[in-house]
Amino acid sequence: MAIQWFPGHMAKARREVQEKLKYVDIVFELVDARLPKSSRNPMLDQIIQQKPRIILLNKADLADPVQTQKWQNYFNNLGYETLALTAKNDKSVKQIVPAAKKVLAEKRARDKEKGLKERAIRAIVLGIPNVGKSTLLNHLAGKKVATTGNKPGVTKGQQWLRFNSQLELLDTPGILWPKFEDPEVGKRLALTGAIKDDLLQLDDLAIYELEILSRFYPEILMERYQLSEDDLFQPAAEILMEITKKRGFKDDYERGSELLINELRQGRLGRFTLDRYEEKVD
Ligand code: G4P
Repeated sequence: MAIQWFPGHMAKARREVQEKLKYVDIVFELVDARLPKSSRNPMLDQIIQQKPRIILLNKADLADPVQTQKWQNYFNNLGYETLALTAKNDKSVKQIVPAAKKVLAEKRARDKEKGLKERAIRAIVLGIPNVGKSTLLNHLAGKKVATTGNKPGVTKGQQWLRFNSQLELLDTPGILWPKFEDPEVGKRLALTGAIKDDLLQLDDLAIYELEILSRFYPEILMERYQLSEDDLFQPAAEILMEITKKRGFKDDYERGSELLINELRQGRLGRFTLDRYEEKVD
């Protein structure tokens, strides 16, 4: 089934984000570390243009650390500062301020030379749904949350969350849409829960999951579903049948598919990355 990419949605999101960009020094682009490519908005470069940014690979606790490091190197080589982040974890979140200072160091030094008083860095969190934007805001703001009220020119109702004296965040993140015309990207986003899976057939999704796991993480499948190496040489549809039977669901493949997808989403299958660095296309 073809999934639509709605130009109308994108145009609106783009206008909203561009309006907010005027008030910030830096963009925190949040992506899912399991999908460092598919969970990015492909128009982001166009939208934010030269605004400094940090790419935050969130949910790093769920991703394959070897792949995360490769993706970080990839983005670093493109000139972006990156952080592997677990937004749920305060310690992880604390790394953001030093990273933002590093990105803005030159500009801040120039401002200082001009005699401008040093002020808190102002930032906006941007990302597609479900990458952890609210979680990050909550953890950044934490108990120290203090809204500093509307500032002149800022969109009505928009407030700043103060992390500490060094960082202020717009209290509403910018929501962008993933581009999932490519069915493979759609399946990856659906597997991590970023888009609704009612757009896709459950068994299609489970078969796709099995294709990726048997190729890149065979040990996860063997251990969790008591499969042998030979089992994994079969086509993914056969593996699905095998798992469904083993779990006592007879030939209810829909139930087998649901189990596989839910276990993946709940993190019961361990850490994995669906966007493979090796398959990246520049
Ligand atoms: P959004 O604003 O970008 O849409 O995302 P949100 O913060 O709502 O996060 C989406 C889901 O991802 C939430 O789970 C959240 O707990 C989880 N999440 C966010 N950051 C991390 C992270 O670094 N690691 C892990 N493991 N999970 C993360 P949920 O099940 O939808 O909600 P809840 O059960 O946590 O309330």
